[in-house]
Amino acid sequence: MEENKKEGRYSRIYKQLSELVIKSNSSYARMATIIAVLHHKMDYFMWTGFYLIENGKMTVNMYQGPVACQILEKDKGVCWAAFNKKETILIEDVHKFPGHITCDSRSNSEIVVPFKNRAGEIIGVLDIDSSQKGSFSDIDAKWLEKILELVFI
Ligand code: SME
Repeated sequence: MEENKKEGRYSRIYKQLSELVIKSNSSYARMATIIAVLHHKMDYFMWTGFYLIENGKMTVNMYQGPVACQILEKDKGVCWAAFNKKETILIEDVHKFPGHITCDSRSNSEIVVPFKNRAGEIIGVLDIDSSQKGSFSDIDAKWLEKILELVFI
């Protein structure tokens, strides 16, 4: 998607999500709503979901898209890298990322954004895959980070 089209799309999604999330104080309801809206409005999102740390394990949580790996091997792959570095990671070509965990062979690029709880602690990540290479840019990073803040406003 072209960068200016992306910006406009995210801006409309953000407005829609801001109005939707305030209907419930449940973080789960908000997370599920965010995943559903993103997955169905961004046509290059092939897999959209959360991995959360549960008993030290990076465990899949709510998502939309093909069936995913339940648990990601510790300190391996993109989700663990973003979690450990505490920063958003953009991967232009997943096949070039050493240790990338392939849950679905159709995935070619990826963005992973750390997910913080109300106290600001990182409790997991938002992981989005695309079947095209180089789908994600700083625009995705900026908006997805902003969208995640809607879970705890
Ligand atoms: N690609 C991830 C694994 C999760 S799937 O993309 C859904 C990784 O290497 O962390």
